This record gives sequence, structure tokens and C-alpha cells, in this order.
Amino acid sequence: MHFLKPLLVAMSAITACEAAPSLQSRAISTQALGSYDFWVQYAAASYCEPNYVAKAGHKLTCWAKNCPAVEESSTTIVMDFSNTTKTDTAGYLAVDDTHKAIVLAFRGSYSVRNWLADATFFYTDPKLCNGCEAELGFWSSWTGVRDNVTEALSGTISKYPNYELVVVGHSLGAAIATLAAADLREKGHEATLYAFASPRVGNPTLAKFITDQGKGANYRFTHTEDPVPNLPLQLMGYAHVSPEYHITTPGNATVNASSVVIYQNGDDPKGNTGALGIPNLFAFMDHHYYFERTDGCLGPGMPFKRSDEDSN
Ligand SMILES: *[C@@H]1O[C@H](CO)[C@@H](O)[C@H](O)[C@H]1NC(C)=O
Ligand SMILES: *[C@@H]1O[C@H](CO)[C@@H](O)[C@H](O)[C@H]1NC(C)=O
Ligand SMILES: *[C@@H]1O[C@H](CO)[C@@H](O)[C@H](O)[C@H]1NC(C)=O
Ligand SMILES: *[C@@H]1O[C@H](CO)[C@@H](O)[C@H](O)[C@H]1NC(C)=O
Repeated sequence: MHFLKPLLVAMSAITACEAAPSLQSRAISTQALGSYDFWVQYAAASYCEPNYVAKAGHKLTCWAKNCPAVEESSTTIVMDFSNTTKTDTAGYLAVDDTHKAIVLAFRGSYSVRNWLADATFFYTDPKLCNGCEAELGFWSSWTGVRDNVTEALSGTISKYPNYELVVVGHSLGAAIATLAAADLREKGHEATLYAFASPRVGNPTLAKFITDQGKGANYRFTHTEDPVPNLPLQLMGYAHVSPEYHITTPGNATVNASSVVIYQNGDDPKGNTGALGIPNLFAFMDHHYYFERTDGCLGPGMPFKRSDEDSN
């Protein structure tokens, strides 16, 4: 893992950190909790192969039984995308008549560790605002499917003009979802974003731009010490979209309303970022559990090996 070596060097180079004042609250309602536990199931469904392989017209299902509320809803896949670009972006566009929503979901990678080992973290200008820089890999993952997705989306929106557009993803899928939502909002859409375990997607200018876009809320979730949202490093110039919804329940314990802490600063040292801003590479288990075993459908049918993650 080429990437981890410089990380460890950076780790030992850090001696001090400035603790910014935290603005936090522990005030989510059980109703809000229920809605987070609902939308994450759309992100979970994006890992289930039948949902992103040529299943337009079908209902969303999760063989790992980690999207029961989505399965109970009246859903139809409008379009799926997978293996269509060299970045292997996958996901689906679906309509949920029960919740009057159009859902655009992006799947995370087969192996987040393979991704970390290969990641280069270059910036590119997404042309969203002055001085905005986005991580090149995440941005190309979106632009690789953007034309097809926006075409299908336009048709869907004109068919269901009163439905809410919700963009979801977990892990790398959350990073792509964040940039996709930002881009779609700039193109005139209202889009609510649910990003679970997202890496940082760009520089502080872009993070602030997305935070303040005001064309749909940003729900960005982290879980205890999940290392993935702590990448790429702040030291490398990256920043998070705000606010952060930090799930503080350990491991796969059931999340309750009092264990979700909201930080108004997306990189609050009391949240997932931590006082040192350094990912805990021993906490990968935290990455897999966001209300549900989010990537539970990874497994049979996945083309890349993931044995290096099984030990976690
Ligand atoms: C876009 O859709 C066209 C027509 O279905 C298809 O041939 C093409 O591969 C798709 N491109 C991407 C990047 O998904
Ligand atoms: C919420 O979860 C935390 C952590 O698992 C636990 O300590 C606490 O007792 C729970 N609170 C309620 C009201 O269930
Ligand atoms: C939670 O994690 C423990 C320990 O890894 C495991 O034994 C248990 O089956 C898990 N429970 C669920 C509901 O996933
Ligand atoms: C994606 O590509 C791999 C390798 O070419 C293949 O084995 C796999 O079946 C493809 N998956 C989908 C969903 O098309």
C-alpha cells in the first residue's frame, strides 16, 4: 500500500494541533433517526448486484437483508449503471412511489483498501465555483456516467415533477454522490444528499461551496473512528462538507437518537476527524456499519478480490 507509508510518516511528524471550538448538539429526534436508517438502505442496495446490472423496471432488493424498508416500499429501477467506465462507477436511478422520491445511488468500491493503496489524490477543477478543486478520481467517476444519468434523470423528473430528488452513497459511493449532488444542484435541481462514510471530496473552497449550496440538505454521516472519512488528509489540503452527523455507537450496536452527534464544522476535532486528524487504520470495521451492515451485499459476483478486508 503505497499510500499508507507517507501517511505514517505524516503521523509521526505531527506534534501539535489546534483545537477549534466545537459547536455540537445531540438533538436528533427518533423520527429523524428513522429517516437516516431508511435512506442508508438505498446506499446498501447499491452494493447488491441485481440492482446495478440491467434491471430497469425491476424492484430494489437486498439479498443480504439490509434494506428491509426499501423492499417494503414501492420502488422501480429506472436505470442502472455499472462497468461502464474505467473508474467502474456503479449504481442506479430509481423511483420510490411510497416516499415520493427519485433516488440516485452510487455504489462504493469492491475493496476500499485496494482503492486506498492505488489512490493518488490529485485535484481537478470541477468548474463549480471559483477556486474549487475536487479530487480527480471522484470527479471522473461522476463525469464518466453524468451524461447518461442526467438524461435519464430529466425524463424521470418530468414524469414525477413533485418527487424529491435524493442522492445517496456509502464510502467511495458517498464521495461520488456528494459531487453528483453538487453538480446537479448547479444545473438547477434540488437534491438532498445522504453521504455515509464519505472521504473528503475536495479543497476547503469546494467543501464550503457544497455546504452552503442551499438547494437541498447535506446529511454526511461518519461512524466512530472509521478511517475512510479521514482521507484524503486535511494536511493534503482537503476539507469536509458540513455538518457532520457522527454516529458514536460502537461496532454494530444498534444506533439510537442520543448516539448521533451533529457537528456544525465538518472537520471538528471532536468528531470523526479526531484531535490529530489522522485516520485510525485499525478501525476499518467501523466503516462497514452505518445503521445497517451497509456493504452487506458485497460478496458473490464481485469481480475483485476482497480477501484483505475479510480479516476485519
Ligand atoms: C450511455 O448509454 C449508451 C446508450 O445506452 C451506452 O451505449 C453507453 O455505454 C452509456 N455510457 C455510459 C458511460 O454509461
Ligand atoms: C444509546 O446507545 C448508547 C451506546 O450504545 C448506549 O450507551 C445508550 O444507553 C443508548 N441509549 C438509549 C436511550 O437507549
Ligand atoms: C456484530 O458483531 C459481532 C462481532 O463482530 C458479531 O459476532 C455479530 O454477529 C454481529 N451482529 C450483527 C447483528 O451483525
Ligand atoms: C464487471 O467486469 C468484470 C470484469 O470484466 C466482470 O467479471 C463482471 O461480471 C462485470 N460486472 C458487471 C456487473 O457487469
